Amino acid sequence: MNSRILIVGQPTEIRETLRNALQAPEWELREEPDAQAALDLVHEYSPQVILAAVDMLDVTSFLEQLRSTREAPVVVLITPPGSRERAIQELRAGAHDYILMPLAPEELRYRVSCAVERKRTLDAILLQLTQAEKMASLGRLVAGVAHELNTPIAAIYSNSDVLSRSVRRLMGLVSDLPPSAEKREIQAVLEVLSNTSEVDCIACERVIDVVRNLKTFARLDEAERKAVDIHEGLDSTLRLVECQFKSNVHVSKDYGELPPIECYPNQLNEVFMNLLVNASEAIEGQGIIKIRTRREGDSVVITIADTGKGILAADLAKIFDPGFTTKGPGVGTGLGLSIVYKIIQAHGGTIEADSTMGKGTTFTITLPLAASQRATSVPVPEPQPHGG
Ligand SMILES: Nc1ncnc2c1ncn2[C@@H]1O[C@H](COP(=O)(O)OP(=O)(O)O)[C@@H](O)[C@H]1O
Ligand SMILES: [Mg+2]
Repeated sequence: MNSRILIVGQPTEIRETLRNALQAPEWELREEPDAQAALDLVHEYSPQVILAAVDMLDVTSFLEQLRSTREAPVVVLITPPGSRERAIQELRAGAHDYILMPLAPEELRYRVSCAVERKRTLDAILLQLTQAEKMASLGRLVAGVAHELNTPIAAIYSNSDVLSRSVRRLMGLVSDLPPSAEKREIQAVLEVLSNTSEVDCIACERVIDVVRNLKTFARLDEAERKAVDIHEGLDSTLRLVECQFKSNVHVSKDYGELPPIECYPNQLNEVFMNLLVNASEAIEGQGIIKIRTRREGDSVVITIADTGKGILAADLAKIFDPGFTTKGPGVGTGLGLSIVYKIIQAHGGTIEADSTMGKGTTFTITLPLAASQRATSVPVPEPQPHGG
């Protein structure tokens, strides 16, 4: 993708210098001598970088207005000799950098490419923060719903149990009566009641199981670092995502003996969720997702392998980049794996992907047993416990 650069308010000779120096296929240049017109152009053209003349009349107000735009381009001030003080002053008004002229073309190109890179990094961070915030809200929502469901479902479950037992008692009493048409009718009704309450109990058990999995998944009570059984996290996450899998996806588990791992459990569950969903999405026909865990020395190795369509060798280096997706706009966000990468890194671990087109993909996570000791910073905001 080309980088868009907008040159604003430069005197003719500097504009020409910039134009000549920045002639490159990866850069798209536009020029606008007037600051006000440039602001309008920002919405239409959304440049990554603006090269603004530091000695434009209204440069301060230009910078201030730019700051409130959605595009928020990186602004570099083109500064003639003698205007350095002014440039430094404008950095406070919101410019990101200044270039002291004259500069050799190579140096100019280098400085502009740094500005483009800076914009790219800023955009990626913003994208990740947005996604992290979304996940945190989702975690709170899940925990809230699980909490609200808990009490009513427990009441219904216990009532159906009482009902079952009462019906059984009535059945016993009725069976002692002498045979009659009424007795047969009462027994038939009791039979219906007994079956109904049995079905209710099974239904309640399912809901209770889902609520328990939601709670383990969100683990809001454990947003802190904690030693946990990784298999519990894998299982509860699997139970939650499995229902979105198509029926052609089969999951097999091969768990080794693992000690409790010190980690942020809700974050590791997020890792498992992203990998499992990606794996299921990669499977088009019949396919298998294999989850394997092993202890290897002072580490735990978790592999999630699928027999899906695989990843192009050229894409393999990019899959952990924020925003990289092959699923098309509106389908993929391209953030899943970048978040996975950050979380594993913060736990002092590593993640690697290995893939063969048409055969499948394997993600291998290695976590140190004392993962937490190195995880000093939390990569995504922790959902806060909600209510009681
Ligand atoms: N198990 C997998 N099999 C094949 N491709 C995968 C797999 N996991 C990830 N990918 C590739 O990596 C890209 C990035 O994944 P991700 O960061 O989760 O974003 P998204 O799922 O939104 O596209 C996917 O679009 C896909 O091309
Ligand atoms: Mg994904």
